Amino acid sequence: MIVIVASFIFLIEKRKKSRRLIEKTIPHIDFDQNSNELDLVHISDIHYLDPSLTDYGQAFVRNVEKGDAKTVRYIDQVLDSFILEMIKKKPDAIIVSGDISYNGEKASHQKIAKKFKILKDKGIDVLIIPGNHDIDNEKAKSFILDEEKRVDSVSKEEFKEIYSEFSYSDEDPKVIGRDKNSLSYMYMINNFQCILMIETSCGQNDLHISNQTYKWIEKMLNIASINNLSVISVTHQNILAHNKMFISGYKISNSSKLIKLFSDHNVRLNLSGHMHIQHISKNEGVLDAAIASVALYPHLYASIHADARGSIEYESQSIDVEYWAKKYGWKDDKLLNFNEISKEFFIDCTKDQIEPVLNKINISLEEKREMMNFVIDTNLFYFSGRMKEREDLNIENINYKRWKKYGEETFLISYLDSIYMDFDSSHNKFEIKM
Ligand SMILES: [Fe+2]
Repeated sequence: MIVIVASFIFLIEKRKKSRRLIEKTIPHIDFDQNSNELDLVHISDIHYLDPSLTDYGQAFVRNVEKGDAKTVRYIDQVLDSFILEMIKKKPDAIIVSGDISYNGEKASHQKIAKKFKILKDKGIDVLIIPGNHDIDNEKAKSFILDEEKRVDSVSKEEFKEIYSEFSYSDEDPKVIGRDKNSLSYMYMINNFQCILMIETSCGQNDLHISNQTYKWIEKMLNIASINNLSVISVTHQNILAHNKMFISGYKISNSSKLIKLFSDHNVRLNLSGHMHIQHISKNEGVLDAAIASVALYPHLYASIHADARGSIEYESQSIDVEYWAKKYGWKDDKLLNFNEISKEFFIDCTKDQIEPVLNKINISLEEKREMMNFVIDTNLFYFSGRMKEREDLNIENINYKRWKKYGEETFLISYLDSIYMDFDSSHNKFEIKM
């Protein structure tokens, strides 16, 4: 009997002690105001190439512009337009979920840190995690004349140093937990909301969450629960599948445990990127909102409004580069008509990929033209999460049927199927009600 009572007292004391320990881990932070509302902005996959690393000549065109539809040529202007828009909008924080640099160039990271400093100085928190392109990247290169040359990338330590003002400083009081095994951290943004930044791009956490990091995540979620704090999480890669062709290499390999943890701890929203496509997936009450690459037409970012009850409103929108160009007196027609220029570039990149496929199919030029336009429209609306706006884009469309008939052996039909088998077509806007 004495042993049972002693064990019981021991267990109660242990529970009290661990509760005290957890409560102690939340420091007292004097927030400017005890607000019940929060405004966040999410951007991802900036793939910023510092203009000092290129003359936009032959090597750039061959190695950068022919790669995919990112408008790296104008990324400096897109980012400056974004900064102007944020200064006007004044969100509480901007979340940058990785692939900040084009291919991990040190000069690109240094330049972008200077740009983020403008936002920080205006009282806007900037929360950063690296993506798979950002650290120790052997592809870090300059592109001058006809030559591409290796340039310095950054180590994990250098990354932390460059972004030390943006929550990678040990002195930042709002960082209430930091994982020893990754660049993950928990950020207390106000009196009711935490942002759990989970890094899965370096070392043993490459597209994977290690057991140690999982233990740390669980500890952070317990701290949040005990202290009645809501949590929004952030990853670079996706935590749910978004398209059957973009699972391997895109979704964190062991994310099912994360979904279970989030579901158990009432974490309803994860913000991700990496795919470069605007798409929202849901499982077990958890939404993974993947924002398109901000470098890609139509240059999206997401606005997220959260309240103290845990309700969330999400909507993506385009950066207004033309407004910025007019405001600063730019005379360059390409900047003054940026929407059209960027859209044309996106279309040209799609054409470059489709033309070789169509060339191998023996049908009339008119049919080829219509099949090409169908893929262009599909790409334009799918990448920006707006398929809902075009009701004619469906499997009854004659051009989808033509691709089925003539393109059976090509990768294009698998790609189109992966899009048209996804019947949930609204990916720009949602609400989570509590
Ligand atoms: Fe990525």
